[in-house]
Amino acid sequence: MKFSGSHILSISQFDRNDIERVFEVADRMVPYAHRERVTKVLDGAILGNMFFEPSTRTRVSFGCAFNLLGGEVRETTGFETSAIAKGESLYDTARVLSGYSDVIVMRHPVSGSVAEFAAASRVPVMNGGDGSNEHPSQALLDLYTIRKELQHQGRSDLDGLRIAMIGDLKYGRTVHSLCKLLCLYKNVTVVLISPNELKMPEAIVEQLRQAGHTVQESDVMEGSISKVDIAYSTRIQEERFASPAEADLYRGRYRLNQSIYTRYCEPNTVIMHPLPRDSRTEANELDNDLNDNPNLAIFRQADNGVLVRMALFALTLDVADQVDKAARDV
Ligand code: CP
Repeated sequence: MKFSGSHILSISQFDRNDIERVFEVADRMVPYAHRERVTKVLDGAILGNMFFEPSTRTRVSFGCAFNLLGGEVRETTGFETSAIAKGESLYDTARVLSGYSDVIVMRHPVSGSVAEFAAASRVPVMNGGDGSNEHPSQALLDLYTIRKELQHQGRSDLDGLRIAMIGDLKYGRTVHSLCKLLCLYKNVTVVLISPNELKMPEAIVEQLRQAGHTVQESDVMEGSISKVDIAYSTRIQEERFASPAEADLYRGRYRLNQSIYTRYCEPNTVIMHPLPRDSRTEANELDNDLNDNPNLAIFRQADNGVLVRMALFALTLDVADQVDKAARDV
């Protein structure tokens, strides 16, 4: 894909070369993310960071990524602080805010809304999550994390990956984007573990099969995580249900803890989760007793979000090759 000036709305825009390009630039961002070097490559540029749903990681890491490249961040958080609450359309909002910004990141509760916004924007727009549809930057940072974790184990190839996805696969946009991304690789085994009512959408399962992947579906976690490289857990997406009571029917169905891990998983299985994990004891899809497990990658995964989002900004704003020239050591 042509990165320069492009919207990033879906993971389907990327091919394998694009992924490698993002990962190569992300690798080069490490000294900047660690504050060992400072770059001003985006000095004077402004990010419009618009989040109409709650977020900790995506909002803050996109903002940090832009700051670390030398740019400024202007935030809108929640409909109530936006003129959308007064009836302004996405079209008008996009026309106006794209006059104030060089790039916009947007999260919105309605599937397709970020693409609608982007169509009216005069600057590149990145999808920070649109309803239950997609979360492309999360899929990129997830795959970047998988690659790094496997490299740490001495494995270099994403082809042949074995991954289990556990939880709310119907509404979880991170697993939707990750499945689409895995279709670019070869011989992947995808084990989909969810309650029957919260299965991965059939269209995505079909995409995995069309890519030649092995797909197994189950509603039981324990036996299904015994032969995977990655156990990727997700929370029940309460905000997509008709009521919290309906979400309660499924919360706590799959609870991975150290005892289950020791008993069922291979010794090197990497545990991932896009976060937030639900820390209420009755829900608790990843128990705190996993916190000392060296294969728990959830915080490395969140850290990698800054690197990948720096790479996306650098590529989209066409400064990837100038980052080091505009830099100094700390
Ligand atoms: N993974 C993720 O999207 O987290 P936030 O909701 O905190 O942004």
